[in-house]
Amino acid sequence: MTIKSIITSILAVGFSAAGLNAAPDFNKDILPILQENCIDCHAAPYKKGTRLRKPKGGYRVDTRENILKGGESEEAGVIPGNAAKSQLYKRITLEKDHDDIMPPKGDPLTPAQQKIIKDWIDAGAAWAPGVVLKRKG
Ligand code: HEC
Repeated sequence: MTIKSIITSILAVGFSAAGLNAAPDFNKDILPILQENCIDCHAAPYKKGTRLRKPKGGYRVDTRENILKGGESEEAGVIPGNAAKSQLYKRITLEKDHDDIMPPKGDPLTPAQQKIIKDWIDAGAAWAPGVVLKRKG
């Protein structure tokens, strides 16, 4: 075996192992969760009558840049590759009656939704190019 063939086999094994735990797909897995549970409070500023409604906590989840950045706490929202240290992930996995849980009312995200967000962040928090989330109503 040459060095090159050894390296090639190691890479092949590595990629097939990674394939077993494929990263979530942004459009299919992540966007619907944000759209359903977060965007109405965390979108771009908009006018309601004469009032300008700002995103809650100064935090927007409408683009990758904004979701990474975080809001008033000045703590990063998402740290690609590190869900455990990401404020967004910490907030969605708090106890149901915790003051800081997101979403703040209604049911918490399901364990399956929490897991897929964790996997998405840990895999690098990929975002579909050009996608900007908008409020539902
Ligand atoms: C009903 C409105 C509402 C919804 C829905 C909501 N949030 Fe929030 N969010 C808030 C408010 C209000 C704050 C500011 C108070 C606070 O920090 O707890 C906030 C703050 C945050 C912050 C802290 C930003 C910072 O740096 O200070 C994060 C992260 C966050 N939300 C994530 C989410 C995620 C993820 C979802 C969806 C799973 C979500 N929120 C859904 C109202 C909402």
